[in-house]
Parts: sequence; structure tokens; C-alpha cells
Amino acid sequence: EHKHKFLHELPKCEHHVHVEGTLSPELLFSLAKRNNITLPDHFPGSVELCNERYDNFADLQDFLDHYYIGMSVLINEQDFEDLAYEYFKKAKSDGLHHTEVFFDPQGHVERGISIETVVNGLNKACKKAEEELKISTKLIMCLLRHLPVPNCIETIKSAHKYYNDGTIHGLGLDSSEKPFPPELFESCYKLVKENHPNALLTAHAGEEADPIFITNSLDLLNVTRIDHGVQSHRDDELLKRLADNKIMLSVCPLSNVKLQVVNDVKELPIRKFLEFNVPFSINSDDPAYFGGYILDNYIAIEDRFQLTGEEWVKIAKNGVYGSFIDDKRKEEIY
Ligand code: ADE
Ligand code: ZN
Repeated sequence: EHKHKFLHELPKCEHHVHVEGTLSPELLFSLAKRNNITLPDHFPGSVELCNERYDNFADLQDFLDHYYIGMSVLINEQDFEDLAYEYFKKAKSDGLHHTEVFFDPQGHVERGISIETVVNGLNKACKKAEEELKISTKLIMCLLRHLPVPNCIETIKSAHKYYNDGTIHGLGLDSSEKPFPPELFESCYKLVKENHPNALLTAHAGEEADPIFITNSLDLLNVTRIDHGVQSHRDDELLKRLADNKIMLSVCPLSNVKLQVVNDVKELPIRKFLEFNVPFSINSDDPAYFGGYILDNYIAIEDRFQLTGEEWVKIAKNGVYGSFIDDKRKEEIY
């Protein structure tokens, strides 16, 4: 059945998937209808036109301009639950055991949808996935770096109760990278760390921007994981630091191609990461927009790099080890 049986059966964990990025064109148009949302004239008017558009993103910003319009069809708790549960089912069928899911509360609160609506819907899907699909899930809230810091601080304050009751497990930082460096968000990370010392801290860094964005995320935001981080290959000292401190990079191969970070998956520094012992996981980022879910991303790496069974086992184990789960759950998965 599966051409890549070995990769399908390998115990996989996902650490970099934006739930809003799992909104397929089909679900997008059906929710637009259900919620009476009129999309702007310049938005592609059909599933086919969306798929054409998704093959032609110029860069991260060009993608984001479309993505923030796409999420405007999400209105009710049920919409968020449906969206997340569709992703969980698909990921489970790919051989996924555990997933840490990003969401962008500000992308919804800005449009008048309360954080309660968003979190309640997502949390229902998480609970259902744990019960019915037997996968583990964690929600990680991301700050939109193109928005003013006071807005980010307000967002964190509105989320305190969800960190306290264990609905939200971490903090991330996403959106347009280059104009909004990590040092802007020091106070945000400090606020979460002080109030919720056990929260996972992570940040998108070195997707398009220089390796200094990674170094500064480690030094100033105290993150213990880096999302993307592929630009780290240009700084050997940084690679050593990532390896020594077991900072995992959540790499997203198909995303990097679609957003023209690289021309082809074969250009990704996978060999260099293995050589330097930098832990990394393989992830889908925004699978509905970038042409593949987690298994497709594993297959893309295998097609270009022909890794050994031993190398694949090491990658899978690093992914389990780097997950935000307790030792018992880690042993269950691997
Ligand atoms: N939001 C969704 N996907 C993203 C990405 N790849 N980089 C930054 N922000 C994002
Ligand atoms: Zn991302």
C-alpha cells in the first residue's frame, strides 16, 4: 500500500504546524459559505485557482498576505474544532504519534473573534484526537511579530488562564520575519517565563533572515527550540551551540521550497546538520498551502538525501526526545 512503508511506520512527531495553515481550499470555501463570508475580489475564487496561487508564492510575505485572508472564514468554535480535527485525522493516517500545534490568536482577535472561541474549539479537537485517534497533542500560541508589542502583551495576558489550566503549553513567534527581529519581543517572552516557568518557549528564526536572528532568539528570548533555523548552516559556531545545547530545529522542507527559501529540497543543509549532530525534526508548517503533510515532507527528504535506516532512526528519536512530553509518553512512542 505505502511506497514508503519504512517512513510511514517510523514513529513521527510534528513540532511545526500552524493550524490555520491546515485550512484546505475545500474547507475554506465551505466555511465561507457556512459563515456568509465574502472573500475580497483579488482572492482566488475557486479550489483550482487557490491551488494555482499556492504554486506561485514569491516569498514568506506573499504567502502570509493570502494566509491572513484565508483564516477570515473561521468564525465559530465549531470551525476551529473541525479545522484541527481534520488535520489530526490526516496526520494520524501519515503515522504521526504526537503533534505540537501552533495557532495565531491575534489573527482572530483582530477580526473580532474572541480567544475563548479559538481556544475552546481547538481544545475540543485535541481532546477528541487523544481519545479517538490515540495521538498526543499540545497547543502552542504564537505571537504575530508584525503587530505592536503592546498588542502581543495584551494577548499573553488574555491567555494566562489557559497556561494555568494546561490548555496552552507554549509560546512561539511567527509571521513576517526580516523586519521584526527577536529583540523586539524580549518583554513578551519574559512575561510568559515569569508567570509560567514550565511553558515551552520557541520562535521562528532563520527561515529567511540571517543566523543572528537564531542567536538572538536563544540569548534574548531564552527559547529552547528554533522553528525553521535552516539559515544556521552559515555559522559553524552556532551549529556547535545548537548541538551542545540540544536545541532542536523544526525544519519544514516543502515550505522552504514553496516560499523560495531554497530552489529544491536537495539544497537544505540536512547533511551538515547530521554531521554537526544538530537535532532536527521534519514538519509540514502549512500543509494545505505547501503541497504536503508530514509524511510527504519525510518522503521529500528521503528522495533527495537517501538517508540510511540508522540516520532515520536517529532523526525519529531526536524528534521524540525533543517533544514537549513526559518520559513515559516518550517511551510509549519509541
Ligand atoms: N505563519 C505561518 N507559516 C509561517 C511561516 N512559515 N513563517 C512565519 N510565519 C508563519
Ligand atoms: Zn511556521
